[in-house]
Amino acid sequence: MLKVENLYKNFGKVNAVDGVSFEVKKGDVFGLLGPNGAGKSTTISMISTLLAPSSGEILYDGKSIFDNQKSVRQRLGVVPQEIALYPTLSGYENLRFWGSIYGLKGSELKNRIEEVSDIIELNGRLKDRVDKYSGGMKRRLNIGAALLHMPEMLIMDEPTVGIDPQSRNHILDTVLKLNNQGITIIYTSHYMEEVEYLCNKVCIMDEGKIIASGSQDELVEMIREKTQINVRLNRVDGLISEKLKEIKGVSDARISDDTVVLHGDNADTLLADIALKVSENGMFIKSIDVKKPNLEAVFLHLTGKALRD
Ligand SMILES: Nc1ncnc2c1ncn2[C@@H]1O[C@H](COP(=O)(O)OP(=O)(O)OP(=O)(O)O)[C@@H](O)[C@H]1O
Ligand SMILES: [Mg+2]
Repeated sequence: MLKVENLYKNFGKVNAVDGVSFEVKKGDVFGLLGPNGAGKSTTISMISTLLAPSSGEILYDGKSIFDNQKSVRQRLGVVPQEIALYPTLSGYENLRFWGSIYGLKGSELKNRIEEVSDIIELNGRLKDRVDKYSGGMKRRLNIGAALLHMPEMLIMDEPTVGIDPQSRNHILDTVLKLNNQGITIIYTSHYMEEVEYLCNKVCIMDEGKIIASGSQDELVEMIREKTQINVRLNRVDGLISEKLKEIKGVSDARISDDTVVLHGDNADTLLADIALKVSENGMFIKSIDVKKPNLEAVFLHLTGKALRD
């Protein structure tokens, strides 16, 4: 559906986007994960036809987007990182404005505003001025503005920054709902948890480059990091770590205070074996804590730095 090939954008000496390629397929929730300044927004701006690349190509359904800007804009919905709303107008007036930009008018516009305000759950507050809205409500309206013309692809640039957890969850669930309705999503974030929750495909971006891409499992597999399982016991005898190491799939086990710290390949199948082994040795488990390797670990592994400070 969307193909980005060897994309570059420099601002003077800054290589904001430095040779980026990726492909988004119909139905994907595609995540672009990276820290501040990685080049996410610059990439998004080029895909949205708002910024011309220094070089490279972006194809939408096989055709260059820069040769077909008007039709591409009709098919894309873009939720910008900076909220693009008129604070002194009401929510309704803002949606009416954005709908008219996309050529909607009359009853069609009215119907779409109703449908969209259902999706973003702002129907009760549309008459209020936007400067009376909470941060989360503004973010939701910002998303609504991008949905009025029924885009087939929705591009969201960090849509949950600076809002409360409840609004954030609402937005994440809206993203999944829209995807279920057939809308392809590009979602940028520097929150690893959001991308893990939403995305079937992920590109990790840093300093203008894609440093890793694939499904989440593929990315985690790439760094070959194992799951850590902390087993806290009622009492620890010195032999238990040796016994636990006998379990197939456990690569190491060591004792730390009242806890055995294990590393292994697949926590799901190991837990039953661990419980059995512990009870066979006359002990019982007080708690178990499983730490699966995640995208944060992938980022740390590849760049030597944390995704967030
Ligand atoms: N219009 C511009 N002029 C000059 N430099 C720019 C411009 N836009 C972006 N940059 C620079 O390009 C780099 C990438 O910025 P970009 O906004 O794309 O990053 P980002 O991944 O979206 O970061 P954030 O998470 O902070 O939004 C940064 O070093 C930024 O300072
Ligand atoms: Mg940005």
